[in-house]
Amino acid sequence: MLQSLFGSSISMALRNLVMLIGAVVLMLITQPWLSAMVLIGIPTTLLPIVWYGRRVRRLSRTSQDRVAELGRYAEEALRGIQTLQAFSHEAQDKRHYRQRVEQAFSSAVARTLQRAWLTGIALLVIFSAVGLMLWQGGQAVLAGTLSPGELSAFIFYAILAAGAVATLAEVAGDVQRAAGAAERLLELLDTQPSIQAPKALATLKQPAQGALTLSNIHFTYPGRTFAALDGIDITIQAGEQVAVVGPSGAGKSTLLGLLLRFYDPAAGRVLLDGVDIRTLDLNQLRATMGLVAQEPVLFSGSVADNLRYGDPNANLDRLRRAAQDASALGFIDALPNGFDTPLGPGGVQLSGGQRQRLAIARALLKNPAVLLLDEATSALDAESERLVQQALDRLMQGRTSIVIAHRLATVVNADRLLVLKDGQLVASGTHSELIQSSNLYRHLAALQFGAEAPVAQAH
Ligand SMILES: Nc1ncnc2c1ncn2[C@@H]1O[C@H](COP(=O)(O)OP(=O)(O)OP(=O)(O)O)[C@@H](O)[C@H]1O
Ligand SMILES: [Mg+2]
Repeated sequence: MLQSLFGSSISMALRNLVMLIGAVVLMLITQPWLSAMVLIGIPTTLLPIVWYGRRVRRLSRTSQDRVAELGRYAEEALRGIQTLQAFSHEAQDKRHYRQRVEQAFSSAVARTLQRAWLTGIALLVIFSAVGLMLWQGGQAVLAGTLSPGELSAFIFYAILAAGAVATLAEVAGDVQRAAGAAERLLELLDTQPSIQAPKALATLKQPAQGALTLSNIHFTYPGRTFAALDGIDITIQAGEQVAVVGPSGAGKSTLLGLLLRFYDPAAGRVLLDGVDIRTLDLNQLRATMGLVAQEPVLFSGSVADNLRYGDPNANLDRLRRAAQDASALGFIDALPNGFDTPLGPGGVQLSGGQRQRLAIARALLKNPAVLLLDEATSALDAESERLVQQALDRLMQGRTSIVIAHRLATVVNADRLLVLKDGQLVASGTHSELIQSSNLYRHLAALQFGAEAPVAQAH
C-alpha cells in the first residue's frame, strides 16, 4: 500500500495540484464572478474527505490485520502439514481458512465501499458546482454580458479544476488507506521491549568466569496465576557442573530463560560473576552463554550457515571441530553437499537427533563461559548419546555448565544435582547424597535405574 502511495498517488496528487492552482488563477483572472461558484464547490469536497476518510482509515487497518491473520494461519498449517494430515484435519483447516479469507475479503469490500462513497460524493459536489456555473454562464451569454468565446475558455478552466479536485479526493482516500496500514506498522516499530539494558552499563570482567548466583527468584509468566519459579536460591561456582532434574513443568527451562534474561524475575536477582545481569548489555550477557534449547531450532540455510550462528567468522576447520565434538561430523559429511547442504525451513531435512547434534555444535562453536543444555541429548540413541556425552564432559571442563536432563544416567556424575519441583528447589547434592536425602530424587532414580540399582544401596 505504501509502495502504491509513494509510487503513483503522490505524483498524481502533485500533478493535479499544479493543474488546480493554474486553472483557478486563470479563472479568477478572466471571470472573477463566475469563478466564485466553482470555488465554493472546492471546500465543500473537504467534507466527504474528512467524513469518509476516517472510516477508510479504520477499515484499512482492520483489513490489514485480517490479511496478516490469513498469512499466519496458512503458515502454521503448512509448517505442521504432517501433523495436520495425520489428524485428517484438512477439511476443518480448509473451512477455517475459507472463513478467514471471507473475513479479509469482506473487510476489504467495506473499505473499498467507503472509499467509493468518498470519491463519488466529491465528484458529485464538484461537478454540480460546474453545472451551476454553466447555467449561470449560459444565462449571461443569452443576456449578452458574456461572449460565447469567453464562456468556452472559462468552461475549459473549470473542467480542469474540477477534474483535479476529483483526483485529489481520490488520492486522499489512498492516503487514508495507507495511513491505516502505516499505523499498524508504526505501532510495531514503536514497541518497546520490556527487557532492556540500562543506559549506564556495568561491565563484565573479561574473560567471563561464569559464576552464577540466583537469589530469591520469584517469577510468574504473564497471564498465569501460579509462579513458575517460587523462591529459588542457587549459587554456582565458576567451572562447576550442575545438573537440574525434576518432573515436567517444574520450571527447569524457565530457569535457563531467566539466566539468558528472556524474562526478568518479579523478585530476586540473577548475578553473573557478581554483577546483576539487569545492569549488563544484553549482547555481552548472552555472549557468555551457549544454549542448546529443548526444541532445537534450526534455520533455512546450509549446515555451515546454521553452525555459524554461533560464530559468524568461524572457518571450516573450526566448524568441523565443533561438529566432531557434537558427534555430527559423520552425518554432515554424508549429506550430498556436506557443510553446504541446505536444510530446508526449520531444518526439516534432518532427523530429530541430527538437529539436536547441530544445535550442540552451534553452541560449542560459540565457546561460551556458561553452557546451558536443556535436554540436549534427549533425541539421541544410546550410542550417539554416549559419544556426545563424552565430548560434552570434556568440553565442560573449565566452564560452568547447567544441564537439564530427564535421563538421570547422563547427569549422575555432575558436581551437583538440583532437584526442582513446582518452581521450588527441593534438594541439592551429589547423586549419592540425594539418594539418601531426597524422597523425590529417590523416586525418580528408582523409576529409571530399577529397584535393585542405586536405590537398593540407599536402604
Ligand atoms: N511461555 C510460557 N507462558 C506461560 N507459561 C509458561 C510458558 N512456558 C512455560 N510455562 C509454564 O511454566 C511452568 C514451568 O515450565 P518449564 O518449561 O520451565 O518446565 P520444565 O521444568 O522445563 O518442564 P519440561 O521438563 O517438561 O521441559 C509450566 O507450568 C508451564 O506451563
Ligand atoms: Mg523444559
